[in-house]
Parts: sequence; structure tokens; C-alpha cells
Amino acid sequence: MPPALPKPPPPYLNAMTQQDDAGGAAVVRVWDRGVRAAHWLLVLGIAASAWSGFVLGRTWLAWHLAVGVGVLAVVFWRAVWGVLGPTHARFAAFVPHPAALIAHLRGLPRRPRMRHAGHNPLGALMVLALLGVPALLGASGAVALGGMLKQGPLRAFLSYDLGHGALGWHRALAIMLLGLIALHLAGVALESWRGRENLVRAMLTGDKPAAPPFVPVTPARARPRLAAAITACGLGAASLGTVALAALPARGVPPAVPDPLYAEQCGACHLGFPPSLAPAATWDRLLGDLRHHFTADATLSADQVAQLRAWLDANAAEHWDTLPAHLLRTPAADGSLRITDTPGWRRRHRAIAAAVFSAPPVYRRSACEACHADAASGRFAPQRIALPRPGAG
Ligand code: HEC
Ligand code: HEC
Repeated sequence: MPPALPKPPPPYLNAMTQQDDAGGAAVVRVWDRGVRAAHWLLVLGIAASAWSGFVLGRTWLAWHLAVGVGVLAVVFWRAVWGVLGPTHARFAAFVPHPAALIAHLRGLPRRPRMRHAGHNPLGALMVLALLGVPALLGASGAVALGGMLKQGPLRAFLSYDLGHGALGWHRALAIMLLGLIALHLAGVALESWRGRENLVRAMLTGDKPAAPPFVPVTPARARPRLAAAITACGLGAASLGTVALAALPARGVPPAVPDPLYAEQCGACHLGFPPSLAPAATWDRLLGDLRHHFTADATLSADQVAQLRAWLDANAAEHWDTLPAHLLRTPAADGSLRITDTPGWRRRHRAIAAAVFSAPPVYRRSACEACHADAASGRFAPQRIALPRPGAG
């Protein structure tokens, strides 16, 4: 009797079942290149965002922003691919019906008889969270950037206080994302053990062993060209929109009206401190005694003092919605007139060793411009901070 013909594979595996490279057991292509690229780019991007945000601090903001924009682009691509990708890439294939989710939870204690080729119901919820939370991080980051630093596409619309609130959310979401990632890793470990398969390798190679059997899903054909076109148009439109919006004047940043007398007299011995760095009351008191101006005599005529007083009052911190104006607005409790004695200044420069300030090329705390390339503008953007090497120059 001739040997029985092997049974044809079930239709949902038809196109996907193949021998693995070693000619061994049959494997099924589950994760296409689009899904795998998105997954590993997100791993890299989120790790770099977390590192630059939590560990490196605000002087790395330029990197943090670049990586964050990259993460958003990948999330956008993955969302498009979730509608136009092949079977297991599609949201429709894995976003679970509540009943399926409950059944899955009930079955967790037992070893499964059927595996999910794509995401299982719990894993699917995690995928949605791991795409949604980075998107919210991007949104809250843009609000914080626009409101607090008057940078980016939202700079024309948002107040400092709103940006400050958004930064709180940004931090909370970032911590939440790290927690979700820990849960995701635990889930992968658990499912790898329960299903006796290596899910990490599957996300690297794209393949899973064809046995034991999979829960059937409706196959779908990928539309890669359409997906690439939509992604390119979406990202292009977002870039153009960002450039156009970022060109609008920033909210709460009045156009600079320089005063020649101030530049000449108050810029003679040190940086002509931008008036937005102190409240009007501080400037008034400072002008009240120029003879005993810290360690110098900066005496001016009564007319000159009156002119400077009017200009400083009109441009003092109260009239600005910038970060330095908010940070330095509260004067020192001991009545010191120094910007460098305000609680805000002290807080922000706490981590810098005293020796950095006293050594060349800085020499003193008030030499803002030694570390802040944009000090004269009053902006003090984190991207423009560079700590000089002590002893240089
Ligand atoms: C003759 C030189 C001289 C002139 C002119 C002068 N200053 Fe000063 N200023 C100093 C010195 C010296 C200090 C103390 C610097 C230090 O110890 O870091 C100082 C400190 C300051 C500080 C505090 C900086 C800090 O540590 O936070 C402010 C604010 C300031 N000056 C504003 C002004 C204004 C406004 C004018 C114009 C009316 C002016 N200065 C003119 C010499 C001068
Ligand atoms: C020795 C270098 C140095 C000097 C001098 C210096 N700063 Fe800074 N400043 C820094 C560094 C570094 C940071 C970032 C600290 C951090 O990572 O949080 C900073 C942060 C700031 C910030 C907050 C920026 C932000 O977006 O969070 C402000 C505002 C600021 N400095 C104002 C001043 C002013 C005003 C002066 C002069 C009176 C001054 N700094 C002098 C190094 C300096």
C-alpha cells in the first residue's frame, strides 16, 4: 500500500509555512520586516529617550528631542502598518474581544493547547499601551517644550504654567512606560515558558515553529506601497506644520527693545543682565544704591538712573513668560539683590562644583555667558549650555 499523502496545511498557514534554514522543523513567518523594524527601533529609541531624559539631564535636550521625534515617527509607521500590514501586523487581527480576553485570563494557569501566532489577547493590550503611551509622551513633551521653553510648534500658543503642568505628566508617563516595559518583559518570559517557545528569537527572525497548532486568524494581504506613501505624507505634513508653527512669535516673549544707556553702563563691567532675569522690585532697589554696587562703585547721574529705572521696570521678569523669568522671579529670602542668590538659581546650579565657578574661564557665578551661549537674549535654552573645562582659556 502506498504511504498516505501528508495532510495539506490548514489554509491560514498555506502561504506562510516553510522549512527553516537548516531544513529542520517547519516554521511559520509571523512577524514581517515592518513589524520587527518598528519593534527594535522602538526598543532603541525608548531606551535612548529614557537615558537622555532621566540620566543625562537637561543639557542633553537636543538629543532627547531628536530621539523623541524618531520614536513618534516609528509609532506613526506602526499605526499605519497596523491597518495596512500583513495578517499578524494588523490591529484587527489581534485587538481582542472582551470575551476572548476573559477566556485567555481564565486559561492562564494551564499550559495552552493552541498558541496565538501573533499577539495573544493580553499581549495585544500591551502593544496598544506601548504605542499609545509614547504617543502621549510626545504630546506632553511638545506642550512642555512650547510652554516652558518657548520652542517647537506650540511656542506661540501655550503659557509657561501649562507647559509646567505638562512636564509633570511627561514625567509620570515616562515612569509608567518603564513600568509597562517591565510588565511586557515579564509577559514575554511567562508566555515563552508556557508555550515552550522563544518569543524573543521570534521577534528577531520573524519565525515561530509551526507546531503546536495556532488559533486560526483571517489572513490579510499587506499593502506596503500604500503604507509607505501614507507614512511619508504624514511625516512630511507634520514636519512642514512644525516648521511653520515654530516660525510664529513665541507667546510671552516680547520683542527685545534694547536700551543703549543700559548696554553701555550696565554692560561695562559684566554681562548686561537681561532685565527679564529679575523682578522690577529688585531692579528698583539695585538702582537705589549704585555707589555700593556689590564690590564696585557704579554711580550714575539722577537722569540716567531715572531712564534706566523706566526701561528696567518695563522689561522686568513680570512681563515675560520665559523659564528664566519664572525661575528667577522669587528674590532671595535674605534680601540679597543677586540673581545668583535667588532660590531658583541656586536650585538649578546646585549640581555644579564650586570650583567650576571660581576657576578660569568662568571666575564667578554671575558670568552667565561663560556657560550659556544665549545669555544675552535672556532665553537660557538648555541646548545652548556648555560647561567649560576648568582651566581652559
Ligand atoms: C564698575 C563696574 C560695574 C558697573 C558699571 C555695574 N556693575 Fe553690576 N556688578 C559689578 C560687580 C563687581 C558685581 C559683583 C560680581 C560678582 O561678585 O559676581 C556686580 C553684580 C551685579 C549683579 C548681581 C549678579 C549676581 O551675582 O547675580 C547685578 C544684577 C548687576 N551687577 C547689575 C548691574 C546693573 C543693572 C548695572 C547698571 C546700572 C551694573 N550692574 C553696573 C560691577 C559693576
Ligand atoms: C559654570 C557654568 C554656569 C554659569 C556661570 C551659569 N550657569 Fe546657568 N546653568 C548651567 C548648567 C550646567 C545648567 C543646567 C543644570 C541642569 O542640568 O539642570 C544651567 C541652568 C540654568 C538655567 C535653567 C535652564 C533650564 O532650561 O532648565 C537657567 C535659567 C540658568 N542656568 C541661568 C543662569 C544665569 C542667569 C546665570 C548667570 C547669573 C547662570 N545661569 C550662570 C551652567 C552655568
